[in-house]
Amino acid sequence: MAGKEYAKREEVTVICRCEDVTLEEIRTLINQGITDMEQLKRLLRVGMGPCQGRTCSALLAGEIARATGKYVGEVKLTTFRPLTAPIKLEVLTRGETHD
Ligand code: FES
Repeated sequence: MAGKEYAKREEVTVICRCEDVTLEEIRTLINQGITDMEQLKRLLRVGMGPCQGRTCSALLAGEIARATGKYVGEVKLTTFRPLTAPIKLEVLTRGETHD
């Protein structure tokens, strides 16, 4: 019974809120031998949402570390891009600055 409850939690635990990637999806790929953060990112889009992994990268690194027996600091992180915010074209044409 306890194992069943654990599996259910894994299914509904969302690691990447931006891309709606669950812990189960991540563990499935890790169990298939994919333990490279860059590959997981490309396959699941984890870390590619609007926050660019600010929320999920540490959680993903923790899962990879747990599966591979490494320290979290030993997990190679992906390239981070700066956060972007949409601005209206009229702001650019008027020469205004954007906060
Ligand atoms: S929570 Fe994963 S990219 Fe934002």
